[in-house]
Amino acid sequence: MKNKKITRKISQGVYILTTNGGGCVVDAVSQISSSDNPLIAVAVNKNNYTNELLHKNKLFTLNVLGMKNTGDLISKFGFNSMRDIDKFIGTDTLEDMGEKIIKNSLGYMICEVVEKIENETHTLFIGRLIEADVLKDEEPLTYNYYQEHKSDFIKIKTSDNKNKWVCTVCGYVYEGEELPDDFKCPVCGVDKSFFKKVISNSYESK
Ligand SMILES: Cc1cc2nc3c(=O)[nH]c(=O)nc-3n(C[C@H](O)[C@H](O)[C@H](O)COP(=O)(O)O)c2cc1C
Repeated sequence: MKNKKITRKISQGVYILTTNGGGCVVDAVSQISSSDNPLIAVAVNKNNYTNELLHKNKLFTLNVLGMKNTGDLISKFGFNSMRDIDKFIGTDTLEDMGEKIIKNSLGYMICEVVEKIENETHTLFIGRLIEADVLKDEEPLTYNYYQEHKSDFIKIKTSDNKNKWVCTVCGYVYEGEELPDDFKCPVCGVDKSFFKKVISNSYESK
């Protein structure tokens, strides 16, 4: 019997990968060499828009998420695609080397892509660390902790089989069978036509 739950006990963090034009939540990250400019590998699903961007862009940035106040960021960057919403609207960012840095992160690592390895589901992007900084001295969020406490982190919390609708402009999530005809997004004010049905709120990277 193969119980894949044990793979969640592989210790890894939770990050927002940003790159020119988009970004998403990732946990499949590993430092794979040690030097002044170590190599860092990240596995990005081929279905993700971020994967397309990383095949074009030279740089990506890993923003380390902490335990506090990261639920909204995970909902927005981990359960929506930049194909549908602009994840940077309403997200506080800084800038370094032209890369967007998530202000509410513990710090960031800017990497230059040096190699790409394709497997059946993901591309492993290997980057050389060229710039980095610490923004806050707080405990990092681990993927295992996130999995165990998912419902505390993500805004999309309805029981299964209940419909959820995401605002394609700002990422706000409405829970209910149908959106009322006169519905307006309470965050950004757009009407019902800007909402898209969310199919699932679960994410399994492996
Ligand atoms: C906790 C968590 C960890 C994730 N880890 C990864 C990962 O390691 N690799 C990946 O490709 N997607 C990962 N995802 C899923 C992407 O963030 C998600 O599919 C996102 O909507 C893709 O957005 P995009 O289409 O704008 O690239 C993770 C999501 C969550 C919530």
